[in-house]
Amino acid sequence: MNARGHFSNRFGFIAAAAGSAVGLGNIWKFPFEVAGGGGAAFVIMYLLFCFLLCFPVMVTEIAIGRKTQKDPVGAFAALGFPKWKFLGKMGVLAGVLILSFYNVVAGWAFGYFIQLSIGNFEIGNQFGDYINNIGRVGLYGIVFMFATAYVVSKGVSGGIEKASKILMPTLVAIILILVVYSMTLPHAFEGISYYLIPQFSEINFRVIYNALGQAFFSLSLGMGALITYGSYVSKDNNIISSAALITISDAGIAFLAGLMMFPFVAFLTNGAVDTVEGGPGLIFQVLPGAFESMGLVIGRIVGALFFLLLSFAALTSTISLLEVPVAYAVDELKVQRTYAVWFIALFIFLLGVPSLLSNGDSQFFTNFITYLGADKPTNFLDFIGHVGSDTMLPLGGFLMTIFAAYVWKKHNLNKEIETGYPGFKGTFIEKYIDFAVSYLCPTVLGIIFILTLLSRFLGVHVF
Ligand code: PHE
Repeated sequence: MNARGHFSNRFGFIAAAAGSAVGLGNIWKFPFEVAGGGGAAFVIMYLLFCFLLCFPVMVTEIAIGRKTQKDPVGAFAALGFPKWKFLGKMGVLAGVLILSFYNVVAGWAFGYFIQLSIGNFEIGNQFGDYINNIGRVGLYGIVFMFATAYVVSKGVSGGIEKASKILMPTLVAIILILVVYSMTLPHAFEGISYYLIPQFSEINFRVIYNALGQAFFSLSLGMGALITYGSYVSKDNNIISSAALITISDAGIAFLAGLMMFPFVAFLTNGAVDTVEGGPGLIFQVLPGAFESMGLVIGRIVGALFFLLLSFAALTSTISLLEVPVAYAVDELKVQRTYAVWFIALFIFLLGVPSLLSNGDSQFFTNFITYLGADKPTNFLDFIGHVGSDTMLPLGGFLMTIFAAYVWKKHNLNKEIETGYPGFKGTFIEKYIDFAVSYLCPTVLGIIFILTLLSRFLGVHVF
């Protein structure tokens, strides 16, 4: 048998990959993007982008991984294009950067789970002080990174797959319970209407851009997470149907998160959902108040469950983020897995310390950089997010589709998909994927990358 790890079956792979996809992006970020982007109009665009644009990229990543059975750096070399190893290295770097700040926010969520379990509803009003209390959030960050590293150190089937098979069904159960409960709250209907009735007048280029970025980040694309997971998949796996299931799970959980969140917000505001500002504070500042109004006992249970949900979602994502550099160290640098895991986790945690300090503790990291044309400085945590997620992921996706279509070549991609899906040739899906990978994805992702560079860093706002 192969000395590398393997997922033991299809469910294991799908649970792990859906676990990577479902994360803070779905439960923390998605609802506030919806609130700021025209409710259901945003949701519709998000779903379209997931299936039309992201799905083909996901298929490509999984195919590259499964064909080569290598980490993202080794994969390009194994296909015969060592010059493209830079793309794998860029993915590893993006993973390291993203995990460094993602772990900080995951730590906040975990801390909220503890605070609400003990009935501290005030925490919502004290959010600013809470994230400033470096001793406390630092500790939660350590715990979170430790849990991530522990799972990854146990290997692919014994760690990642096992944890995902427990965490993902639990997550689905928790979110269903919360959705059903939220529907019973007063004003739930107003919340749902806001969420589900599209306000097309609010759509503009910015909203479209956000929906695209959100879909791409949410599906964990552009950095080789799915090349890595794909490399642990067996040849008889049907890549198309697996990728479809992963996409459906991710979009489905995001959709359910909205279905749960808007009744909560409507409950808190007596139906005036519009009055609540979206933004990162929605979950951390607004929701504890809603839980408090549910009463001491129910509020505690619902609040704790909510943040447990968020922590579980984050954990299956941090696991995949850590696995990318670990796979690189194990496959390419021949480091023993356990050493690689603990060393890299420590390194990334330290890299995240400036992010931990960037909410007021350290003036230097709080006012880290002022972009050209901006009137306010950006803190370190957001800066790393802008570089790692908003910029490097679309660039990675752009280059990956260019690579697949024009360097590795479409017929090789198709051949790999056919292994495990013999009827693939000649199907509509085959034609669509060929078209998307050759034209649609590189064009759209290339544009996104350029727009991000211009508007984020250079102060040029095209729209
Ligand atoms: N998809 C994860 C989320 O939605 C984030 C992530 C991005 C994970 C890239 C892995 C790789 O939270």
